[in-house]
Amino acid sequence: MNIHVVILAAGKGTRMKSARPKVLHRVAGRLMIEHVLARSAALAPRSTTVVVGHQSDQLRGALSGYPGLAFVVQEPQLGTAHALLTTEPVLGAAAGTLLLLSGDVPLISRNTLQTLVEVHATTGAAATVVTALVDDPRGYGRIVRSGKQLAGIVEDKDATPAERGIREINAGIYAFALEGLFEAVRGIAAENTQREYYLPDLVAIYRRRGLGVATVTVSNPDEIRGINSRVELAAASRIVRHDKTTELMAAGVTIEDPATAYIDGDVTVGADSIIHPGVSLEGQTTIGSGCEIHSGVRIVDSHLGDRVVVFNHCVITNARVADDVKVGPFAHVRNEADLRAGSRIGNFVELKKTVLGPGSKSMHLAYLGDATIGEKVNIGAGTITCNYDGVNKNPTIIEDGAFIGSDSHLIAPVTVGRGAYVGTGTTVRVNVPPGALAVSAGKQRNIEGWVEKKKRR
Ligand code: UD1
Ligand code: CA
Repeated sequence: MNIHVVILAAGKGTRMKSARPKVLHRVAGRLMIEHVLARSAALAPRSTTVVVGHQSDQLRGALSGYPGLAFVVQEPQLGTAHALLTTEPVLGAAAGTLLLLSGDVPLISRNTLQTLVEVHATTGAAATVVTALVDDPRGYGRIVRSGKQLAGIVEDKDATPAERGIREINAGIYAFALEGLFEAVRGIAAENTQREYYLPDLVAIYRRRGLGVATVTVSNPDEIRGINSRVELAAASRIVRHDKTTELMAAGVTIEDPATAYIDGDVTVGADSIIHPGVSLEGQTTIGSGCEIHSGVRIVDSHLGDRVVVFNHCVITNARVADDVKVGPFAHVRNEADLRAGSRIGNFVELKKTVLGPGSKSMHLAYLGDATIGEKVNIGAGTITCNYDGVNKNPTIIEDGAFIGSDSHLIAPVTVGRGAYVGTGTTVRVNVPPGALAVSAGKQRNIEGWVEKKKRR
């Protein structure tokens, strides 16, 4: 089918009280408009055009990762019909179906879009409107029917008290036959309380001309929630998160308290993993099976293998954690850190751009940055890789089986050889050969009776 998608996103979003465009707010971790793009992409449209207005540069910038998008600028914003007209230079010569979506209605399902397009095709309607029956229709355009036929749509602000009582609402999502569309939209007037050109007025125009107008009514009204305020934004996020946790639980993941699991749409979690309350799994994160993620953990764009345990209050960003690793509590793993199979880090350990080899351990209070640490290495409490000389970040290499005593400083670039020992409190400035013991602290001196003497003074 010949589908052209148009997404309206030029509105100011006044009710968000925000410096950023409304559609660039995140719903469950993903930009509002990205939800719309993902769902419409499933229909394999011939083209996708985004109507931008307020802060159009910000919007273009945020969507630069989507190559095939066309942008048109609507300035000033005179209403949804006017917004559609701005796409005429792009779509005026196109044939087929125009699928009109709203950037602020992000939860519309692929199924509904599919049904919309199918119903539109089989009925041969000039326009097909998505509607829903809701308990609280306030703020939405109401669907006015005469008999079963759709007669028109009246905006909340223009509705009579009787019309306000109608519970069937306009979702703001439509399929239009492209043929004759722009000519008809030009016939819409701004004779209403808001002095705006209302796209829903097209319905009455088509009816008057005797053209077919069909409707598709969604069974789940959550799908068509329009987001105009922060409260509605939070409610939409809650729905997306709920769907995500439901999907994961169905696939065998234990989520102790789904209401406090913040799991982004693209995250995957393997079966028999356990997610404790208050955990955030964000971005392109993947978690293997049999893992346990304790409360207060945040994991962003990271990959965890199988049987990984992350104890409370760890932050893991852009890192890899292999099978059977244990992390935390209170650990910070970031920026290409790579924990190999069976390694272990404990409390107040920070890893940055560091490989911690298989079976190696750093249990307490350490900073390991730009380091390559081999197999079965023991890093004592309070070890610090001094990787930054004020200009450059320098590497530290610790070879297999080495033992780094507590409170050691490794001044990079430096290498500790295979099986070498670094004594407690050593400042390592030069390479330690394999099998050697490095010590730098001076000999201890005890001054007898010093305390008593001090008191007498
Ligand atoms: C609109 C519909 C209403 C429907 C509701 C569903 C109109 C007149 N009303 O109302 O029937 O129930 O959506 O959520 O269409 N936009 C532009 N340019 C403009 C005006 C708006 O691009 O000049 C965009 C907005 O950014 C938004 C969308 O169009 O993405 C809808 O506009 P909005 O002002 O939110 O319309 P509603 O009052 O919600
Ligand atoms: Ca809206």
